[in-house]
Amino acid sequence: MALKPSYENVLVEKKEGIAWVTLNRPEKRNAMSPGLCFDMLEVLTELNTDPDVRVLVLTGAGDAFSAGMDLRLFFRALDDKPYERQLARDADRRWNWYKLAYFSKPTIAMVNGYCFGGAFTPLCACDFAIAADDAVFGLSEVNWGILPGGLVSKVVADFMPLRKAIYYSVTGRTFDGKEAEKIGLVSLAVPRARLKDEVTTLAKDLMTKSPEVLKATKDAIRHVRSMPVDQAYEYLEAKSESMRFRDGLNTRSRGMEEFLDKKTYRPGLQPMPGRK
Ligand code: COA
Repeated sequence: MALKPSYENVLVEKKEGIAWVTLNRPEKRNAMSPGLCFDMLEVLTELNTDPDVRVLVLTGAGDAFSAGMDLRLFFRALDDKPYERQLARDADRRWNWYKLAYFSKPTIAMVNGYCFGGAFTPLCACDFAIAADDAVFGLSEVNWGILPGGLVSKVVADFMPLRKAIYYSVTGRTFDGKEAEKIGLVSLAVPRARLKDEVTTLAKDLMTKSPEVLKATKDAIRHVRSMPVDQAYEYLEAKSESMRFRDGLNTRSRGMEEFLDKKTYRPGLQPMPGRK
C-alpha cells in the first residue's frame, strides 16, 4: 500500500532520504485530534518499511510543534462515546509511542514552537529532539483539572530529572528550549533560524551509518533501562551476536579491516568512509 496522496491532518515530504512529517492543524496549534492520530498511524506504518526513508523528522506546521491532545475533539466530544473514545485512544497510543519509539529508522523531533501536554509523548518517543531555543514547553494539564495522562507522566518521569518533572507538572509553569536542553528533555536547543539546518545536518550524519546498527543501538538503550544488570548483559550479548548477521553493510568486519589493516580511518572520530 502506498502513502495516500494527502492526509487531512499530516503533511509528508520525502527528500534525500529524510521523511519530513508535519502535524498539520496550524489553526489549532496542531492539537492532536482523533483524525490526526488515525492519519499518523497510517503514515508511520507506511514509512516504517519505505526503502527511500532513512531518517524521519517530526515537526508541526506554523508556530507550534503541538498544543497536546485536542481538548474539544479528543476529550469533550468523546466523553459520552466509549467506542469512539477507545478507537481514538488506541490510535493515539500506537502512533505516538509504540510506532514512533520503535520506528525502524532514527527519528528526530524538530520542536518549532509550543509543545504542551500530550505532545511530550511523541517528543520523547523520538530518538532525538532539537528545539528552537524560544520554543515553549508546558505540562498544562494541572491547569484544567487532569493529570498528565496517556503516557505523559511516564515519559516525563523517564526523561526529566525528578525534581524538574514534579516542578513542571505540578505547577504547570512553562519553560523554553534552552531549559529543555539543560534538563535533558531535548538533545539540543538552537536559534530558530538554524533549526532546520541543524536537524538536516544530524539526519545526514545518521545516514552515514549502518541502518541495522542504528536500530539495534537505539532499541538497546531504550530496553536496558528497565532491565536488571544480568538481564541487560544477556540481552546485549544476544543483540550483538545478531548484528553480525543482520548488518547488511558488514560494518564490524569492514571496520576492523579498515582500521587495523588498511589504517584508512579512526572509528573513534569518524564514520566509515564510503556511505552517503
Ligand atoms: N485542544 C483544542 N484546541 C486547541 C488546543 C488544544 N489543546 N490548543 C489550541 N487550540 C485551539 C484554540 O481553541 C483556538 O481555536 P479557535 O481558533 O477555534 O478559538 C486555536 O487553537 C488557537 O489557539 P489560541 O489559544 O488562540 O492560540 P495562541 O497562540 O494564543 O495560544 C496555546 C496557543 C497553545 C498557548 C493555547 O492555545 C493553549 O493554551 N492551548 C492549550 C494547551 C494545553 O493545555 N494542552 C494540553 C492538552 S493535553
